[in-house]
Order: sequence, then C-alpha cells, then structure tokens
Amino acid sequence: MSKTNNNNGENQIKNFKIELIHYRHRDNTLISLLQSAQDSYGYIPEKAIDYISEMVGISEADIYSIITFYNSFSLVPKGKYVISVCMGTACHVRGAQFVVEELERQLGIRAGETSSDLNFTLETVNCVGACALGPVVSVNGEVYGQMNRDKVSTLLDSIKKDMEVEVK
Ligand code: FES
Repeated sequence: MSKTNNNNGENQIKNFKIELIHYRHRDNTLISLLQSAQDSYGYIPEKAIDYISEMVGISEADIYSIITFYNSFSLVPKGKYVISVCMGTACHVRGAQFVVEELERQLGIRAGETSSDLNFTLETVNCVGACALGPVVSVNGEVYGQMNRDKVSTLLDSIKKDMEVEVK
C-alpha cells in the first residue's frame, strides 16, 4: 500500500472516530454510523460493531442483523475495485451469467469473493435501475452497459491501466 493510501486510510478512520464522538452530542442514526464505518474501513470490522453497540445501546446481534440485511455493508474487507454484476431479470435474460463466468475466469475468484491481493471483489447484485443498458456491470459504482464476455477483457484492461497510473 502506498503512503498516500495509508494517509487516506488514517484520515478516514479519524473521520469515523470523529463521527462517533459527534454522536454523543446530537441525534444520529445507526445506519449512518454503520455507513461511516463501511466508508472508513472498507468493511465493518468487529471493533466498530463493539463501539457502535455500546454507543447506541443496541445489541451486537441486532447490529449484525442490520449489516447482513443491507448489500452495501460488508463484514469482510472488499477489494479496491468492487465489480458488481447485475443479476436482475432484464440483465439475466440478456446473458449476465456469462459475464459473471468470464469475470470469474479472468479474475480467478468466484462471485462473492475478494482476490488475495485485495485488488478485486466480484459480486452479484439485484437490479441497479439501468435495465435498458443490460447486462450491466458496475465498478465502484460506475456503470458499464451492454456487457458481454468479449467486453470483460476490455473492462479489466482499463482497470489494470488505472492501477498502473496510481502506482506511478
Ligand atoms: S435488471 Fe439489471 S439494471 Fe435492472
């Protein structure tokens, strides 16, 4: 990890701690604290759940239930690039499964997994609201439409080029 990334991580964790402190002095919601933890760490670690549980007076079991309810929260670290393939009906009937299979093959991970270098997470999601563009893939929230097996290589090549630029 580069020094810049370390600094960003430290700043994000600091921001999350500040948000926790602010919570003592104003009304806030459990969801926003969980979102802050997710944004700060890239997932919601056990220690954040401990903090939040103590602060809001909600049991850890209840907090785990909420975390697992929302797709946007994760209990395990996600990759730097989160590649999400929509498996909603419109995308599914246009061949989203083939896109998933090609991504799995090229990334060497299964849907739901993160690569060991923490560069990639591959996941399947429900309709993202861009059905006319299906099959739809998003990378860190940026949407790519009309995907197919052949376009997977182009997409991964462009991500790898981004990664090279960041390293330089
Ligand atoms: S079904 Fe994929 S965007 Fe709606």
